[in-house]
Amino acid sequence: MFKEFLDLGRHPIANAFLQKEEDFKDEFLFDLKVGLDTDTKLVSIKNFVEPERIFNQDYPYNTSNSFPMIEHFRKTAGMLYNEYGNETCYRVLEIGSNSGTFIENFSKVDSVCVEPCGNFAEITEGMGYKTYVDFWTTELAEKILSNDGYRDLIYAANCICHIHDLDDTFRAVKKLLSPSGIFVFEDPSLLRIIERGSYDQIYDEHPHIFSVTALNNLLRRNGLQIFRVDNLSVHGGSNRIYACHTDSCLVGDSVRYNLQEESVFGISNFETYEIFAERVFNSKKKLVKLFEDLKSDGKKIMSIGATAKSTTVFNYCGIDNSIIDVITDTTIDKQNTYSPGAHIPVVSPDKVNMIDYDYAYLGAWNFKDVIINKQREFVESGGKFITHVPQVMMFS
Ligand code: TYD
Repeated sequence: MFKEFLDLGRHPIANAFLQKEEDFKDEFLFDLKVGLDTDTKLVSIKNFVEPERIFNQDYPYNTSNSFPMIEHFRKTAGMLYNEYGNETCYRVLEIGSNSGTFIENFSKVDSVCVEPCGNFAEITEGMGYKTYVDFWTTELAEKILSNDGYRDLIYAANCICHIHDLDDTFRAVKKLLSPSGIFVFEDPSLLRIIERGSYDQIYDEHPHIFSVTALNNLLRRNGLQIFRVDNLSVHGGSNRIYACHTDSCLVGDSVRYNLQEESVFGISNFETYEIFAERVFNSKKKLVKLFEDLKSDGKKIMSIGATAKSTTVFNYCGIDNSIIDVITDTTIDKQNTYSPGAHIPVVSPDKVNMIDYDYAYLGAWNFKDVIINKQREFVESGGKFITHVPQVMMFS
């Protein structure tokens, strides 16, 4: 049974940046409500947005623009190859291959990509990787099986939590995974989101927020089993889940440890989510008050990182360009646009003289250290940062 615990109000598509002011009136909005499935313990949003509205030719999120993520994928690929690869043949499939920052570390001959966004599929195809421009389904898995054969590694980063029908997703993996193959996927951790109060990781692209507990239930009922869990720091805390065909591998201590940690935390108890909802509401009240006080003191505020996360914060808290003048972002496709819903101009960092501003809100708080390092001059001239994670605060 789906039990709702959080209502974040009306939201746009978190990554649908608007090209011109005339587009504001036609912007698609939906009610962002969140609940717990009391049977599987899966946390999901109530109203799924059709995937075609989100993942299409205009999808802007490009992993190649993020040096920390390029490094993350290079290291992940090396580790997977060293620990699970086979010298003679290692048939890899990546679901949601984006601009190829993970797959580029594997052979062009044995690897296959799946990517529904045509703009990115063109990139991996151009790099020499066979790419299916499609959504991940059992139908597609059958097609890949007959064209390309079984896969020894099926990998997905920040992608499985995007897919509405998880039973179909896991059945599709089961079909295509070789008998000793492994399915490795990483997504933000529900436990870390609740701990940090980072409700901004909830938006249309994340219809599910995964706990190891819920994934354990869902994978099992589809003939797969978790045998290892890595806790990662990326995206403010993610879990990398390793699964295999049921009974084809030994379950490691990390699985028991994570299930135990979540159980002690109360991940299966509805009360945990009611407390989280209260914290989210208080975070909004504090952030709005802080911004209002700063504005009434005549302070100038900008934001760094036109993230999907900041779309959630700005729309939930009703923050627009009367509070934040401008957002800077290093992603070329996001520059010279307006942020979804809040309609704050997004520009290249070169276009903003940081010392003109008193405060910089961290839209990309997950890259806090990288960003702060680049902003020494801003801090030296008296500038301060604002974040809401793990609580609303200012710092320099
Ligand atoms: P990410 O945190 O992955 O965002 P999302 O919430 O959309 O998943 O992306 C970080 C964004 O921040 C990305 O658009 C690039 C931008 N960015 C900067 O503008 N400056 C920086 O120094 C860094 C590290 C990121």
